[in-house]
Amino acid sequence: MKGIIFNIVESVVIAENGIDAWDNVIDDSGVFGAYTSLGTYPDSDLLAIAAAVADRVNATPSGVIRHVGHQGISRIYDRYPEFFTNHDDVLSFLLSIDSVVHPEVRNMYPGAEVPNFVYKVVDEQTLELGYRSARQRCDFAEGLILGAAEHYGQTVEIVQTTCMLRGDDECTLRVTTT
Ligand code: HEM
Repeated sequence: MKGIIFNIVESVVIAENGIDAWDNVIDDSGVFGAYTSLGTYPDSDLLAIAAAVADRVNATPSGVIRHVGHQGISRIYDRYPEFFTNHDDVLSFLLSIDSVVHPEVRNMYPGAEVPNFVYKVVDEQTLELGYRSARQRCDFAEGLILGAAEHYGQTVEIVQTTCMLRGDDECTLRVTTT
């Protein structure tokens, strides 16, 4: 996992709980803890950090990762506003992730392993994203989608009609603007 993701986790934890909390989380989780945005680090670090945060705030690791995605989108916007400004609404933005955003991420962060999404436009309000990745981070995807909706001043409901974490071959995130 690229360091930028860990930079985002760090930024959210420090903003919400202070710098000491981040130091404690790094100690608790047993990871090295110094992440540069372009570096590549074990995927297991993310789960270890999320588990350490979860212990402190009485949540699940998956819930923490979802929350980080939700809060993290504003940090992504601060670094890369151009990905967002080309769109007027969240569903249009989501449709650009697979063809524009993540391919560009691969250029900017050599070695990045971004997921592929398979889209199904259900109607004007509903978009389905088929997500398949060995990392099984649909929780992160959900959080990012919630954060992106907020960015556009919208609210969405996300239902996972299939989910790898429940034993399915892929996750299907059905996103409906409400
Ligand atoms: C709501 C929109 C987005 C969704 C749903 C999404 C989803 C994801 C997910 C689930 C991952 C985890 C890796 C995996 O599953 O294999 C990921 C990785 C990543 N995404 Fe996105 N993403 C979104 C927008 C963006 C944007 C706007 C950026 C711009 C910088 C970005 C940059 C990255 C990077 C750098 C990684 C890490 C790749 C790696 O560690 O190798 N994503 N994305």
